[in-house]
Amino acid sequence: MPEIASVALVGAGPGDPELLTLKALRHLETADVVVYDRLVSRAVLDLVPPGVQRICAGKACGKHLLSQDEINALLMRLAKAGRRVCRLKGGDPFVFGRGSEEALHLVAHGIPFEVVPGITAASGCLAAAGIPLTHRGMATGVRLITGHARENGELEVEWRALADPSTTLVVYMALAALERFRDGLLAGGLAPATPAIAVASGTLPEQRLCRTTLAELCDAVAAAGLEAPVMVAIGAVVALGDILGRAPVEEEASHARQSRG
Ligand SMILES: C[S@@+](CC[C@H](N)C(=O)[O-])C[C@H]1O[C@@H](n2cnc3c(N)ncnc32)[C@H](O)[C@@H]1O
Repeated sequence: MPEIASVALVGAGPGDPELLTLKALRHLETADVVVYDRLVSRAVLDLVPPGVQRICAGKACGKHLLSQDEINALLMRLAKAGRRVCRLKGGDPFVFGRGSEEALHLVAHGIPFEVVPGITAASGCLAAAGIPLTHRGMATGVRLITGHARENGELEVEWRALADPSTTLVVYMALAALERFRDGLLAGGLAPATPAIAVASGTLPEQRLCRTTLAELCDAVAAAGLEAPVMVAIGAVVALGDILGRAPVEEEASHARQSRG
């Protein structure tokens, strides 16, 4: 019987491989097998040494190659076979990544595991766009929320509580729920002119930014044609990106395209 090996639940960060932690890199370099989600960037996967087995679990916001039960079973099977498993997840494994469900499953079956935190999309993508999550006098807190609806199509959101002008709101898996967030936040009392930004493929070379307002959010994102992964931030701090961000914003890019004819 091989000795049971451990599973490392490793956060890969938002995409730029230089945003990996040293610990994440060590696990990538020493694993026998890497089980990764589709959100993990190609550049991060390129750091896995040749010859190490890679298995795509394919989990990407609702689309699954393997079901969560199949992923849980796979991790257990690999660990029980004595393989050192690196379970690589986009961002941080414990932020909307179902990493905690995988960890609970491992605990229930007596498989040793370690969690390696990663930079989550909210902090990675916004910092890369020059936007702080909090700023004295602008935002005293931050709220991370998923736009992914329950099976009955409902978002479990208390709009009045969420429409807080002193809190930065970051919506993960935002695309399908944009209209509901705009309408709910406006109905909850947030000002239509509240700054908002959508970030697609943040920190990667193909990153796109769409800077707008709460009222214009849906039209601006549709006009920009952003593709997943997209996260949206809404709040006063977003305006600081005009000063602190270095990447060209989407409207500027499209104005430039228009003026070139
Ligand atoms: C299933 S959640 C996983 C979140 C991940 N565990 C984290 O901590 O960032 C996937 C969502 O994260 C957001 N996301 C992750 N990486 C992103 C990136 N590079 N650019 C924009 N959004 C990203 C998007 O909202 C995407 O739909």
